[in-house]
Amino acid sequence: MKTVAELLQPVESDLEDLLSDLRNLIGAGHPILQAAAEHLFSAGGKRLRPGIVLLLSRALDPAGALGSRHRRLAEITEMIHTASLVHDDVVDEADTRRGVATVHSRFNSRVAVLAGDFLFAQASWHLANLDNLEVVKLLSRVIMDLAEGEVRQGLFRYDTGQSLETYLEKSYCKTASLMANSARAAGVLSGLPEPELDLLYQFGRQLGLAFQVVDDILDFTGDDAQLGKPAASDLASGTLTAPVLYAMEQQPLLAVLIEREFSELEDLPQALALVRQSDGIQRSRQLAEGFARQAGECLAFLPPSESRKALLALPEFVLSRLY
Ligand code: IPE
Ligand code: IPE
Ligand code: MG
Ligand code: MG
Repeated sequence: MKTVAELLQPVESDLEDLLSDLRNLIGAGHPILQAAAEHLFSAGGKRLRPGIVLLLSRALDPAGALGSRHRRLAEITEMIHTASLVHDDVVDEADTRRGVATVHSRFNSRVAVLAGDFLFAQASWHLANLDNLEVVKLLSRVIMDLAEGEVRQGLFRYDTGQSLETYLEKSYCKTASLMANSARAAGVLSGLPEPELDLLYQFGRQLGLAFQVVDDILDFTGDDAQLGKPAASDLASGTLTAPVLYAMEQQPLLAVLIEREFSELEDLPQALALVRQSDGIQRSRQLAEGFARQAGECLAFLPPSESRKALLALPEFVLSRLY
């Protein structure tokens, strides 16, 4: 199995530049907000989203070069992602992220909310400065989707009547929208025609859905150290993901435990065990495999290059996180 660093190898030095550029970009803010943002950037995420933008940008350039606007788009993408994580961790009351303390537990919730806002605002400013209205619309839409996804997830807590469809719409908003729209935006900056822009959008969308389903499986099968964030936390907070929605079809008791919001002492461990015993994990894996396959099919039009190879290996990488 390839690590994410090996996979992103064609844009390895671009990603190093990205980190120092991000530090400079956020450098102008208030010291506390800066410290908060810096805290997470330094912890080092996988940088998958800017990696995708950078690989696409190079794959779409006849000389394999990377322009300054594409580079900036990659930075904006990681800023938006990180901002969403800072806010998500406040909502989830999560203590760790990327293996370190979350911003709200290291500082406090006020700082975390403001730091997230600050990052969104910075991202919007740099986005506007790309001077491309279509790209501004695509990425602003992402920021709207992120907020909507977080709200929807809150509204559907402990709701055992929700469908897989509802779950996937929420997952699109929280995760796939950013990958879809930033991939499309990379194509816009490269001057691609509409059919190919749509393929890039579909690539990001399907990859993002696969990624979220895998993340939701890992919440049941992984541990804190491996994930760098608290495991087994989705169900505990009433967030019903693919494994649970499938497991409920097989284990009617699960819905009972969820509906009484795990009020009895043994409810939560019992519910976790029911999910793990069911075929919910297996069926979720198949769901993710379907999305990953569709993602790969969207990229056939790219001309041969190292970047193209890396992009085509991404769907498999997303699935390989399960093994
Ligand atoms: C975390 O994304 C949020 C989800 C969409 C599940 P990543 O797993 O890509 O987070 P980092 O950026 O590598 O920390
Ligand atoms: C990921 O959702 C998407 C965003 C943070 C916007 P999760 O709630 O599954 O992310 P983790 O599991 O906390 O990383
Ligand atoms: Mg979360
Ligand atoms: Mg998660």
